[in-house]
Amino acid sequence: MKKLIKNNVDWVGKIDWELRTFHGEEFSTHSGSSYNSYLIREEKTVLVDTVWLPYAKEFVDNLASEVPLEEIDYIVINHGEKDHSGALTELMQRIPDTPIYCTANAVKSLKGQYHQDWNFNVVKTGDTLDIGNGKELVFVEMKMLHWPDSMATYMTGDNILFSNDAFGQHYACEHLFNDLADPCRLEREAIKYYANILNPFNKILKKKLDEILALNLEIDIIATSHGVIWRDNPMQIVEKYAAWCRDYQENQITIIYDTMWNGTKRIAEKMAEGIQAEDSETVVKLFNVSKADDNDLATEVFKSRAIAVGSPTVSNSVLRSLSGFLHYLKELKFKNKKGVAFGCYGWSGESPGVIQAMLKDAGFDVSEEVFKVNWNMTGDLEQEAMEFGKKLLKDLED
Ligand code: FEO
Repeated sequence: MKKLIKNNVDWVGKIDWELRTFHGEEFSTHSGSSYNSYLIREEKTVLVDTVWLPYAKEFVDNLASEVPLEEIDYIVINHGEKDHSGALTELMQRIPDTPIYCTANAVKSLKGQYHQDWNFNVVKTGDTLDIGNGKELVFVEMKMLHWPDSMATYMTGDNILFSNDAFGQHYACEHLFNDLADPCRLEREAIKYYANILNPFNKILKKKLDEILALNLEIDIIATSHGVIWRDNPMQIVEKYAAWCRDYQENQITIIYDTMWNGTKRIAEKMAEGIQAEDSETVVKLFNVSKADDNDLATEVFKSRAIAVGSPTVSNSVLRSLSGFLHYLKELKFKNKKGVAFGCYGWSGESPGVIQAMLKDAGFDVSEEVFKVNWNMTGDLEQEAMEFGKKLLKDLED
């Protein structure tokens, strides 16, 4: 089913209400997602991106009911990942000679995945494609945002930036546009997408945003490849990205732990109590990592100035839920965040040291001081746990 975006541009994608994980099981998508594809009908007819493989036939059939497929002059593939290129094989069986415009790296990713020698036309930043009626497509490479093959396509005249993954969210929204979406859900999914997918590429993103802003493009619409299309003040998401890519922080401390018999949990609670007693303005959130969603938790870390991480000592190490999560944090390459370690133990007590090493390896500025409790806390030790929380707060102010 098509939806009008502007003038001669329609959305012809697929809203995936059922999706609950993405990238295999790596990314939780509580709000579903969409694969946004666009059909431009000027003097030339252009398809921008397709949809994920399971929806390929449905997509091509819908497209064929909208426009005779042989009338498609050009296909633009902004990014070769399967959620956007998945319907190409189905489509190209019907129109095998149609030129595909993409980056040199996208030729590699498309050939690598589909093993087809389609009519590829390699483009780079600044290259243009005349689509008639005085309008052009202008290509902008978006290398590493988030794949080496990524690019965006700008349509002059209508001032639409087809941004692909950048500025997107995993959010199945029936209304398609940001001004009609639930603002809380939109904000939550946009920041989660950034924290979990784009944060590792902060430096590149900052340079690219500066480059795009220097082009002085008039942007009326940012047509992403996932979630809502930004038409109401589209630059609001660009401004958010400009803030998020600068080692973003809110006034938040996140306490992350796992626990066996609630000893480590009790330390976490007392630390939180100490922080809150010292400064009620600081947001303190506690998560048992084994009961939390990893991607939601990573988003909380993204928003934090500091994290405190705790585990009881088990077999001279930490509980595996925690080591898995700390490995994930390393992938996300957070910068400018403090970390402290804590945990209770019965015999040997290595867990805080293991956590310290993992936090350092993940790029956190780790306090040398740890909080360890042999067995369970007494009243005095509870007070010390509160002081340990206050100390973390003080270290942030120094
Ligand atoms: Fe939405 Fe990188 O694919």
